[in-house]
Amino acid sequence: MRAEARRALACAVAAAGLAWPAGQAASALARPVPAGEHARRVAAELVVVAGDARRLAQGAALPLERAGLRARIAGSLASLPLLLRHAGSDAEAVPVLRAAAARGDWSALGAALRTLQRAHPFDPGALASAPPTPERLALGKAIHAQSCAACHDAPAADAALPARDLYAMARSAPRAEFAARLLLGVRGDRSTAYRNPFSDLELGALLAWYVHGARAGGG
Ligand code: HEC
Repeated sequence: MRAEARRALACAVAAAGLAWPAGQAASALARPVPAGEHARRVAAELVVVAGDARRLAQGAALPLERAGLRARIAGSLASLPLLLRHAGSDAEAVPVLRAAAARGDWSALGAALRTLQRAHPFDPGALASAPPTPERLALGKAIHAQSCAACHDAPAADAALPARDLYAMARSAPRAEFAARLLLGVRGDRSTAYRNPFSDLELGALLAWYVHGARAGGG
């Protein structure tokens, strides 16, 4: 796909086309949301927003991407009350987060998020702790080549939210944060109600590959 066409696409993976050499089915298709999943999603969302706020606080991104990150934070905070209620929690902390984000006060946002995160700790569990066995690395490599590489191995430099280099991300972000980004960053298509089409086993294989595998081109 040409870069101009790709740039507009968010991180959507066509679940219908998924077929791994290792014979792993995309087992998450059309599954109901399991118990505990709402709590995990809220916790992961808080981790990603905190990570984006940290990148902004550190001046990590270029101006266009900073605008993209600000917009993504605003979007996350807009849907956070609903996510919190799904997880059985109240949303009284959200206005404080929104006010800090609106001011562009990323360290205040980070501090307020840390308080909220104590009530919603993110546990990546098996997703992040599975050892990088040869089978797991092979599965992660195959999924990446088939479903991710086309966008993420040649990021558009001029996008507000580019498809970032996942190897670099895996090796620079804290492990739990990268796991949360994998959990939330990949969306399926209509066949999965736009939920992440991958099982924890598959996401764990991807994580292992990005952390321990060799990126395309050798590095
Ligand atoms: C059609 C192009 C495309 C494909 C295919 C694709 N992505 Fe993405 N991805 C993007 C874009 C663009 C973004 C940034 C915007 C966004 O967050 O949706 C992104 C965002 C992400 C993020 C979130 C990064 C962050 O800043 O939090 C992760 C993680 C990710 N992708 C992983 C993957 C993985 C793993 C696959 C393969 C299973 C994949 N993507 C397939 C285009 C793509």
